[in-house]
Amino acid sequence: MREPADLQPPTADAKSAWWRNALFYEVYVRSFADASGDGIGDLDGIRSRLGYLELLGVEALWLTPFYPSPMADHGYDVADPRGVDPLFGDLAAFDALIEEAHGCGIRMVVDVVPNHTSDRHPWFGQALAAGPGSPERARYFFRDGRGPDGSQPPNNWISTFGGPAWTRVPESDGRPGQWYLHLFAPEQPDLNWDNPEVAEDFARTLRFWLDRGVDGFRLDVARGMAKPPGLPDMDLGMLRNHGQLSDNAYDPRFDNDSVHDVHRMIRRVLDEYPDRMSVGEIWVADDERFSRYLRPDELHLGFNFRLLTADFDAARLRDAIDHSIASVSRVDAPPTWTLSNHDVARPVTRYGGGKLGTARARAMALVELALPGAIFLYNGEELGLPDVDLPDWAIQDPVWERSGHTDRGREGARVPLPWEGSTPPFGFTAAENSWLPMPFDWEQLTVETQLEDPDSMLSLYRHAIELRQRHPAFAGSEIEWYGGPEGCFAFRRKESGLICTLNTSPGLVPLPPGELLLASGPLTDGQLPPDTSAWLAL
Ligand code: GLC
Repeated sequence: MREPADLQPPTADAKSAWWRNALFYEVYVRSFADASGDGIGDLDGIRSRLGYLELLGVEALWLTPFYPSPMADHGYDVADPRGVDPLFGDLAAFDALIEEAHGCGIRMVVDVVPNHTSDRHPWFGQALAAGPGSPERARYFFRDGRGPDGSQPPNNWISTFGGPAWTRVPESDGRPGQWYLHLFAPEQPDLNWDNPEVAEDFARTLRFWLDRGVDGFRLDVARGMAKPPGLPDMDLGMLRNHGQLSDNAYDPRFDNDSVHDVHRMIRRVLDEYPDRMSVGEIWVADDERFSRYLRPDELHLGFNFRLLTADFDAARLRDAIDHSIASVSRVDAPPTWTLSNHDVARPVTRYGGGKLGTARARAMALVELALPGAIFLYNGEELGLPDVDLPDWAIQDPVWERSGHTDRGREGARVPLPWEGSTPPFGFTAAENSWLPMPFDWEQLTVETQLEDPDSMLSLYRHAIELRQRHPAFAGSEIEWYGGPEGCFAFRRKESGLICTLNTSPGLVPLPPGELLLASGPLTDGQLPPDTSAWLAL
């Protein structure tokens, strides 16, 4: 039996907690490794590759949703938050995975989706059947439409995936009836967190996985659960200016103050268990508003997308690093760093593709791994995989349909991992085809090839991670900047002396003094070439 929180021994001293500097690795479950032979990754597949993750130096996994789901958004549409979809295995496979991972010293973080359910969640079926005004509908946002016959959506909100954020349902007499809110796909109805039943059920889900031994949660759309009273219209012009990152301009769909009540409730549940953590997906640009999510009674970590959204330019990257640190230090939380995830273009492609993109991605890997705080790698980033230009027929991301085929969506970054061999599916699956087609020319990018090559991206990551975890120059939690030539920067870990220097200029620059530990590419006459970074120790 669990003891009430106030009888528990205090959890690990916040300053030494395991997650503050941990190396997390995001496993996009569909694409990591397939053991069942159906072309789709699964839990047993992950278990079969734990040795690789150990070799890489991974300290914690973040698994994307593996719960029963009709897969309208590849599992981010959850029909049963306390089960495992047969595509990915079953609860026994989950228990086996967590046990084995823990045996390898790897912690396990699972993705939870508090903002919405699937339209196949039993609650949504009950809401449709029960009709307007019922308690069943009050778990979601059902509203009458505007206009004399209710044929206009209740407000002008648009879905993050394109199109209106409302869908109209037929009532029991077959006539068009109420509308329901979905900030994402129509198959993902938003939950009403003002309804205590929603919070109770979510707490049950958290305890269900905590009792199975998970070490933490990644909270999907962590800025989304609270909607403003009256659901006022949004300013659509603001959206054109700011894209996905809600900025100071007010977007009524996200980052409403009462979302913090939800995070406090989640934290209370987590605090019943020692040493567990949460990391929230917080697309909030304003430093002060971002910091609110990391107050001592809310989330432990917040995904920080500043580094990922910055161009490859020393001044911009420095600004992103400064803001990342400023936004968490005011609440005494550690920063997090990430260059990619399953929703954005991969670094190699983002930084220009080909040799240039690869050189820059290598340089950025050393910048990221030099920074104090928690690191989140995305599977395949350590292999330097580029985005794949998928044929139309292969695209399953709802963004593709919702955008009227103008936005190809996020699947270019979700192509399965190449493990070994010389032809697709490169050891990912025993099936003939993987769920997304893999390029024919990935032989040089497989884990097998890269393990053998000391100059590969994988070897760079392994070496850098090992230094980060073992070398004394990486101690401490503060950095300070050096002056540098135009287009370059250098920062130093204040307490322990590691220096990281990056050159985004077109010319050669001298290295700062110190012992060279690692460089992202070859030096020229002892100088740092363009698109290269290096680590030195004092
Ligand atoms: C998050 C996920 C994304 C998903 C969306 C809706 O942004 O990372 O993949 O589509 O939430 O759940």
